[in-house]
Amino acid sequence: MKTILITGGAGFIGSNLVEYLVEKYPNNHFVNLDMLTYAGNLENLKSIENANNYTFIKGNICDRTLVESIFTKFKIEGVMHLAAESHVDNSITNPDVFIETNVKGTFTLLDVAYKFWMEKPFTYKKEFKNSRFLHVSTDEVYGTLGKTGLFTEQTPYAPNSPYSASKASSDMIVRSYFHTYGMNTVITNCSNNYGPKQHDEKLIPTVIRKALSGEIIPIYGDGSNIRDWLYVLDHCKGINLAFRKGISGEVYNIGGKNEQNNNYIAQRICELLDGIQPLEKGSYKDQINYVEDRAGHDFRYAIDASKIENNLGWKAAENFDSGILKTVEWYFNKYKNK
Ligand SMILES: NC(=O)c1ccc[n+]([C@@H]2O[C@H](COP(=O)([O-])OP(=O)(O)OC[C@H]3O[C@@H](n4cnc5c(N)ncnc54)[C@H](O)[C@@H]3O)[C@@H](O)[C@H]2O)c1
Repeated sequence: MKTILITGGAGFIGSNLVEYLVEKYPNNHFVNLDMLTYAGNLENLKSIENANNYTFIKGNICDRTLVESIFTKFKIEGVMHLAAESHVDNSITNPDVFIETNVKGTFTLLDVAYKFWMEKPFTYKKEFKNSRFLHVSTDEVYGTLGKTGLFTEQTPYAPNSPYSASKASSDMIVRSYFHTYGMNTVITNCSNNYGPKQHDEKLIPTVIRKALSGEIIPIYGDGSNIRDWLYVLDHCKGINLAFRKGISGEVYNIGGKNEQNNNYIAQRICELLDGIQPLEKGSYKDQINYVEDRAGHDFRYAIDASKIENNLGWKAAENFDSGILKTVEWYFNKYKNK
């Protein structure tokens, strides 16, 4: 049975991915290595926690001895690397841990995989000849866009926050292991995800939570910042396709062609909540309030996903209307009794 290591599998995207893969591939074994920082939550994995093809290990990707022991014990044949510090606001107040986890952690995993799978540069050990390292990254590495244009895989890197700089650095290290050692690597750069199991601190859960608790719904600046929103399961399917069918050394952008500004997101959520649990008077929209903008706030991100669509046959199944409704319903059930 082929064993695949997934890092960060207790986080938002990781837990959606682990659940999807454990159910889809009963003949693969999935080992989830996650340190359970404030962002990791085993509640996210309840549905598969007892599955025969799933193992959870609590630990730090920077701990080389631990990572080596996992590769040896489970004969790891593939890595899907998602563990990271992921919240831009936290990277502004506390950048150190972003460099540690996102840069050093990625390096540690890569280097252990290289030494475990390969005899020397460009020569894989026979039993690991198809082993692949897939690195999950973000569109934020490309910097910010003006009103027009899209990020392609050729867009030069221009990260603007400590978070995106740490992710860009990790992408560069992955790239170097492909070029220097001939390691079988693939990188995916995805736009903003939304959907179930995201941490409370992120925009969409915050809007829903604050709306339901009767608090002010804080929106940065004037709310005009634009993101390209992708339903999390569509991202997971893209990661899986890139892992199984992508070409070694290639980069694939993943995005939903769903550009929305923060004002639209907040208003749409309030409209849906107005339908699900109407207030006695007025609308949840009345709680929206503008707060001081995030330092260095990128104006717009938008992805050209034609490479993964044309070459690997990926396509987003969810459109924004259907995805946001599912999402609001999921968080409504989570928060309604709190
Ligand atoms: N959320 C998005 O919109 C988005 C978009 C594109 C790319 N990404 C990337 O996808 C990946 C997952 O993002 P997410 O939103 O699920 O993040 P998340 O913050 O929800 O989850 C991160 C997970 O990593 C774990 N972790 C953190 N540091 C660790 C360490 N040192 N060792 C082991 N585990 C550790 C946490 O416990 C958590 O479970 C990240 O690499 C992120 O950069 C996210």
